[in-house]
Amino acid sequence: MQQVPGTDRAETERLRERIATVLERARRRTVGLTECLDEAELVAQHSRIMSPLVWDLAHIGNQEELWLVRDVGGREAVRSDIDELYDAFKHARVDRPALPLLDPAQARVYVGTVREKVWDVLERTPLRGEGLLRDGFAFGMIAQHEQQHDETMLATHQLRTGDAVLAAPATPVVRTPVGGEVVIPAGEFTMGTDTDPWALDNERPAHPVHVPGFAIDAAPVTNEQFLAFLTDGGYDRPELWSESGWAHRQEAGLVAPQFWEQDGGGRWWRRVFGVMQPLRPQQPVVHVCWFEAEAYANWSGKRLPTEAEWEKAARHDPVSGRTRRFPWGDADPSELTANLGQRHLEPADAGAYPAGASPAGVHQLIGDVWEWTASGFDPYPGFHAFPYREYSEVFYGGDYRVLRGGSFGADEVACRGTFRNWDHPIRRQIFAGFRLARDLRSDEH
Ligand code: AVJ
Ligand code: FE
Repeated sequence: MQQVPGTDRAETERLRERIATVLERARRRTVGLTECLDEAELVAQHSRIMSPLVWDLAHIGNQEELWLVRDVGGREAVRSDIDELYDAFKHARVDRPALPLLDPAQARVYVGTVREKVWDVLERTPLRGEGLLRDGFAFGMIAQHEQQHDETMLATHQLRTGDAVLAAPATPVVRTPVGGEVVIPAGEFTMGTDTDPWALDNERPAHPVHVPGFAIDAAPVTNEQFLAFLTDGGYDRPELWSESGWAHRQEAGLVAPQFWEQDGGGRWWRRVFGVMQPLRPQQPVVHVCWFEAEAYANWSGKRLPTEAEWEKAARHDPVSGRTRRFPWGDADPSELTANLGQRHLEPADAGAYPAGASPAGVHQLIGDVWEWTASGFDPYPGFHAFPYREYSEVFYGGDYRVLRGGSFGADEVACRGTFRNWDHPIRRQIFAGFRLARDLRSDEH
């Protein structure tokens, strides 16, 4: 969020307007993702690792009720009887279809009722307090939460079979293809943030990190590059995989990225939200798990970047020494700088966002695909859980890898240079790809 100069009162009113804008944008998307399917499809489980869409819908409303209606607003509960059903820690996804959930009509009424109360709370709440109220944090957190579940619902859409129901314009055309790598010299930079008002707890505090020199690819790994690994026997060579990666490759029968299909003539296709398309060679590969990324890196003689390397490549300005909000500077993302917000339904080809490149020439760090990093999910030094342990803290040290940068399905309110996502190394339903890095050779220092 940009700081806007002006009087306190005018600033507060601008913040109130911004909150209304991001809440409305999230709700338009939620409605768009749910109104296009019939009741049976909304209550169905399209995959055992995903919730029925109607669960996400009411869970969005329930989180909004808990934090904005009850906590910030101090109002009476709308539906205290359903808290337990929509507590993600109480029921595994596989068990959610069997719960006595609100049906789609009831869920729509519920989220609408909660939102009506939230407009009233927003109107009457001073946005200048500390903690949850500071800079409207609780409202920003809830807008991010809805958008995160919208991205999860979008992944459910990709998993469902049947006729296509979503549509979006094509991604921008590439004028100058981008490839190769960029050297980032050794040195300290500031990782994380104290100043981004809606940054979540795991992005804080800002802290200095010394990063040894490294090289990082200018673009994410593309379908064409990944296909070369596949046709070189990459899925059949255990020496390219870690022990746990190979065990998973065997057990899950991995032979290609999820949603890839080969026809009788040997041509590869990709199923994109119910539509078969010929594999686009220059598009960043998507729907690969961390183990596949690791095997590809071993095959190519490189490695995944650490989280610190990724963030330094994305935010460090070598000229001023400052840490930026985004690779292109401090301005909010736009349709010229990043493929975000479900504006398109797939990643754009490598080189599609020259205006979004970093000063060193690293492209598409923000948007297109979440990028797997080498790092596990751990707290920064000085971390403290806020406002609830279950957002980040309970996941620290678990079997997770950090993803950075956001996908075409991430909204800009929930995507920043500091934003940290995480998932199990076997997960492929998320919109994740990767880019490679390597240590510098002695002659490159
Ligand atoms: C941060 C994306 C891993 O979706 O599991 C949503 C976000 N936390 N509701 C997830 C989240 C609570 C979370 N991720
Ligand atoms: Fe949630």
